[in-house]
Amino acid sequence: MSAPKKLYLKTYGCQMNVYDSERMAEALGGEGYVQTDRPEDADMILLNTCHIREKAAEKVYSELGRFRGLKADKPDLKIGVAGCVAQAEGEEIMRRQPLVDLVVGPQSYHRLPEMEAKTRQGEKALDTDFPEEDKFERLKARPRAKRGPTAFLTVQEGCDKFCAFCVVPYTRGAEVSRPAERILSEARDLVERGVREITLLGQNVNAYHGAGDGGDWSLARLIWALDGIDGLERIRFTTSHPNDMTDDLIEAHGQCAKLMPYLHLPVQAGSDKILKRMNRSHTAESYLRLVERIRAARPDILMSGDFIVGFPEETEEDFQATLDLIDAVGYGYAYSFKYSTRPGTPAAERPQVAEEVKDDRLQRLQALITRQQRAAQDAMVGRTVKVLFEKPGRLPGQMVGKSDYLHAVHVQGGGLAAGDIASVRITSSGANSLGGEVIDTSAPVDSAPA
Ligand code: SAH
Ligand code: SF4
Ligand code: F3S
Repeated sequence: MSAPKKLYLKTYGCQMNVYDSERMAEALGGEGYVQTDRPEDADMILLNTCHIREKAAEKVYSELGRFRGLKADKPDLKIGVAGCVAQAEGEEIMRRQPLVDLVVGPQSYHRLPEMEAKTRQGEKALDTDFPEEDKFERLKARPRAKRGPTAFLTVQEGCDKFCAFCVVPYTRGAEVSRPAERILSEARDLVERGVREITLLGQNVNAYHGAGDGGDWSLARLIWALDGIDGLERIRFTTSHPNDMTDDLIEAHGQCAKLMPYLHLPVQAGSDKILKRMNRSHTAESYLRLVERIRAARPDILMSGDFIVGFPEETEEDFQATLDLIDAVGYGYAYSFKYSTRPGTPAAERPQVAEEVKDDRLQRLQALITRQQRAAQDAMVGRTVKVLFEKPGRLPGQMVGKSDYLHAVHVQGGGLAAGDIASVRITSSGANSLGGEVIDTSAPVDSAPA
């Protein structure tokens, strides 16, 4: 029998790419590939790319350049580009970087095995279609091997929102939801293989409208069905759009014990003028009211958000409105970005904000966010939280996991294994994680507001 071929697969961008990479690795596994973390050992190098900001896209070309030497040494090495840069710049990649043998867009991954075979014949393979069929259904099933306690599961793809700055509607296409039963059977299979926490993924996950028993299912309905799976202990979802935060979903946050008290709900900016120009179709006020309603349903929920600074025509006053909104919400986590011009999007045509102004605003916003994050983390000290342990820590006898609120928590000893959930009294708050002690698992878990 011949030795297995080796696949070096590198993933950029969002969690949906992480999920897609797992599925691609499995599909190529069916063609005899095993994964390696050394590009120099690989028979195939595949970059799963992100197009969201200019830097992310440029990284791909510099990374590809680094493989030139490898290909010179090993002419049989195949190099492929998948993901959102592949979708956006397919033919240009082939032109700019002749080393590339294969370009596959995010909706065509089920065609990867036949494309790989084509490259073995010495041909180039390019597929950036938006085919009708469900790529996940056609991709080889996940193998039944044991796996870690947490998993991603894509339930919805694409976006119909067309925010004026964003490439996703172009790279991922229109919103499509997977049928509920396929998601449930994939979830049951993950749980049988050791998974205890599932994060449902979608570019607009709360716009989920999948075909299900009795008609159209909302995300809330899907969550309640997942709630019924024995052995599945935690459910999360990301990323949500404020306009799709329906009453049933808000209610689920109050009533479904398996749905974790953490919500990533990007708002992008706090000025109504900017929100309008971003085509967000919500105002700062409607967002704040929404957060109030979510907190009324689940008072201890930890809010997380995304912010863009330096959007075209953002004034100091507009920026101040973003800081005010952040003050009013009080985030547990937040991700902030300098606006990056994306060719083909409407905002690219508008008057741009100077780079040094963007730098200054980003710094100020991050300083505020860091204070809030730190305060939310420090407020956990003295509380008892549930932790799902994932892996050993750096110190001997240490285990690390995540709290319900997604804070990293480490404890010493206690005979814990990956996949265990225990009540932990938080005793310290460090730079990026909490420390604590495992207490009697029958002790009540404190769910007082943060
Ligand atoms: N679907 C999600 C996330 C999309 S991309 C949502 O609607 O929120 C993740 C984040 O990248 C966005 O929330 C936004 O903050 C940021 N982003 C998107 N396009 C950008 C651009 N052109 N420049 C800077 N940041 C951008
Ligand atoms: Fe991009 Fe807006 Fe769609 Fe999010 S909702 S993916 S930011 S267009
Ligand atoms: Fe990037 Fe595509 Fe995700 S552009 S953020 S990898 S959807």
